[in-house]
Amino acid sequence: MIEIENVSKVYKMGDSEVHALRDVQLHVPAGAFVAIVGPSGSGKSTLMNIIGCLDTPSSGSYRLDGQLVSNMRDDALATVRNRKIGFVFQTFNLLPRQTALENVSLPLLYAGVSRRERREQSLAALKRVELTDRALHKPAELSGGQRQRVAIARALVNRPSILLADEPTGNLDQKVGREIIALFERLNRDEGVTLILVTHDRDLAQMAPRRVEIIDGQIVSDLTS
Ligand SMILES: Nc1ncnc2c1ncn2[C@@H]1O[C@H](COP(=O)(O)OP(=O)(O)OP(=O)(O)O)[C@@H](O)[C@H]1O
Ligand SMILES: [Mg+2]
Repeated sequence: MIEIENVSKVYKMGDSEVHALRDVQLHVPAGAFVAIVGPSGSGKSTLMNIIGCLDTPSSGSYRLDGQLVSNMRDDALATVRNRKIGFVFQTFNLLPRQTALENVSLPLLYAGVSRRERREQSLAALKRVELTDRALHKPAELSGGQRQRVAIARALVNRPSILLADEPTGNLDQKVGREIIALFERLNRDEGVTLILVTHDRDLAQMAPRRVEIIDGQIVSDLTS
């Protein structure tokens, strides 16, 4: 479903150029669980931004479910992104004055879903991350792992087919990090969500059945266990 062919990304900085991705090939079938590892500055987030339709390649092609998205204009790209992709980040990016339930329902508010439907779907999303009992807590009243689970529920509430997580455990200790990856595993296995996870942590990466390593903008290994 994700077909990346000969993708390069060059950032122009005044007179100099940064080659963030060089001739990357990556195919990810629907329902896969892939970890992306590599040193800082190797191009992991750049690749995630392209996969997530937040950015487009400088050259090469990207097809998502057969649709060529690499040449799309921003508005068309945003439509694809909103329909198909959920994002989870290292810094949970929750609104501090809103409850867990309100945070989760924000994407539905933007999509114009009715109040009643928003509540129903947001509670269902909180159930998927086993956090129904914290629905009325604000972020400051939640643990780090619980905050990330609220962010995951928010990413899932639109029912995207692909979940992209860029260092989702970077602000969590090892044990809680493993719990978050275990949650991803469950969403992948039981609900068929396609999962792409960026992590610095090699032990966490080992929990994914397929691991892609990027160094200096190039894929240097792609292992399935
Ligand atoms: N918007 C930008 N403008 C210019 N250069 C950029 C931009 N975004 C990233 N880069 C450069 O592209 C390269 C790849 O960056 P990227 O953020 O993809 O790395 P990363 O693998 O995610 O690193 P980290 O593990 O530190 O998050 C780096 O050299 C970075 O400085
Ligand atoms: Mg990054």
